[in-house]
Amino acid sequence: MRSTAVTGTGRPVSFNGRDFRRALGQYTTGVAVVTARAAGGRRVGMTVNSFTSVSLDPPMVLWCPGKDAPSLPDFAGAPYFAINVLAAGQHPLSRRFATPAEDKFGGVPTADGIGGVPLLPGAVARFECRTARCIDAGDHVIMLGEVVRYDAPGGAPLVYHSGRYHVVSGHPEL
Ligand SMILES: Cc1cc2nc3c(=O)[nH]c(=O)nc-3n(C[C@H](O)[C@H](O)[C@H](O)COP(=O)(O)O)c2cc1C
Repeated sequence: MRSTAVTGTGRPVSFNGRDFRRALGQYTTGVAVVTARAAGGRRVGMTVNSFTSVSLDPPMVLWCPGKDAPSLPDFAGAPYFAINVLAAGQHPLSRRFATPAEDKFGGVPTADGIGGVPLLPGAVARFECRTARCIDAGDHVIMLGEVVRYDAPGGAPLVYHSGRYHVVSGHPEL
């Protein structure tokens, strides 16, 4: 698989897609499940590691669903979404919400957040957001949200690096 992009000089560049992913995977992230209430009331959720803080004032965050994600239209049309930052022990939830299914929530306890957005108990932090903008970005979409409420009980987070799950350990020299 090769990926193409256009550089600032306008020249197209071509990357080996698998190797580009491997390189991006060197950047360590947490893992979050983004949830929303789709039109008609159905609950949707997907595992992401593209969650990023953007602005403190006003408080804004972003995440990036792929254009081929089956639930993208549901998220793009939802007025609110929630970012549930997973705890280390919630790796089964990460796997569940990374697998396409008609209803991913069966047997998963949730609480109702703003606009009925499902919130996952046990997350180390949860950000309830109003969908501010959906920005076209190559094969993904940048979903920008304004944070309207959050809680952050903290605890050990689930970590993703190089395509694998990890837990945080303190630096031995610091
Ligand atoms: C750790 C991890 C991080 C992921 N990050 C993203 C992401 O940022 N954007 C994305 O579109 N898919 C991401 N995925 C893949 C989606 O979770 C997966 O395609 C999911 O099935 C999409 O939900 P849907 O099928 O309900 O649309 C990630 C998967 C894993 C395991």
